[in-house]
Amino acid sequence: MEIIILPTGADVARAAADAIEEQVRSGPSVLGLATGSTPLGTYQELIERHRNYGLSFTNARAFLLDEYLGLPATHPQSYHSVIRKEFTDSVDLGSDAVHGLNGVAADPAAEALRYEASIEAAGGVDIQILGIGTDGHVGFNEPMSSLASRTRIKTLTRQTRKDNARFFENPADVPDHVLTQGLGTIRQARHLLLLAVGATKAQALAAAVEGPVAAVCPASALQLHPHVTVLVDSAAASKLAHRDYYQDTFGRKPQWQGL
Ligand code: GLP
Repeated sequence: MEIIILPTGADVARAAADAIEEQVRSGPSVLGLATGSTPLGTYQELIERHRNYGLSFTNARAFLLDEYLGLPATHPQSYHSVIRKEFTDSVDLGSDAVHGLNGVAADPAAEALRYEASIEAAGGVDIQILGIGTDGHVGFNEPMSSLASRTRIKTLTRQTRKDNARFFENPADVPDHVLTQGLGTIRQARHLLLLAVGATKAQALAAAVEGPVAAVCPASALQLHPHVTVLVDSAAASKLAHRDYYQDTFGRKPQWQGL
């Protein structure tokens, strides 16, 4: 894992956008997109680069990490709608190039299998954006998710439902169940970009990066991946024991190396 501590969330957004831009400009690309508040700054950066600096996504396809079960794609809080509103509708990434899980599939288990097959048919994900939940979840892989899990149904913890209630009119409207790429699925993406911003993420981030690999902190499964870039602001980094080492390493990184 490469852990890069940057002063602010805006710096994190720019660095994440740099990595995605480099991937997209290198040729046909499969992007893994996350929802939640954390990647919004990155999406804003990419939109601006699309509008003002010729960054085009016509060679890209995208796969979402997860979806609420019971919400149709047209529901304003479905992750389908959210990603369109926050990102893909503002760049040249057509809706047929943006793939997500069907939250109202008659057979969710079959939908999960279909989704796994469609990621594979696309050649796998080149670069996957990830946020982290306050309980260490990635996608919607809650604590005790199998480190080898594939796309499937999960039940949200009370904490995650509480954390996500801000997006819904009524806290009781947050669905209990979701479909999410598994930790095994996520780990097949070729490059993982884990973003964390703000002090509320400091504890989960420290457990994910410096704690043992354990299902109790699902994000710790990323330690098993050969190419993970962790981009964090100083508040999210505040509980990392080896902060100085990460800063020193990044400060002395050869410029040609990239992320
Ligand atoms: C949500 C999403 C995750 C996201 C996480 C953190 O529940 N399923 O993909 O990373 O929670 O969200 P936020 O970035 O809003 O803190």
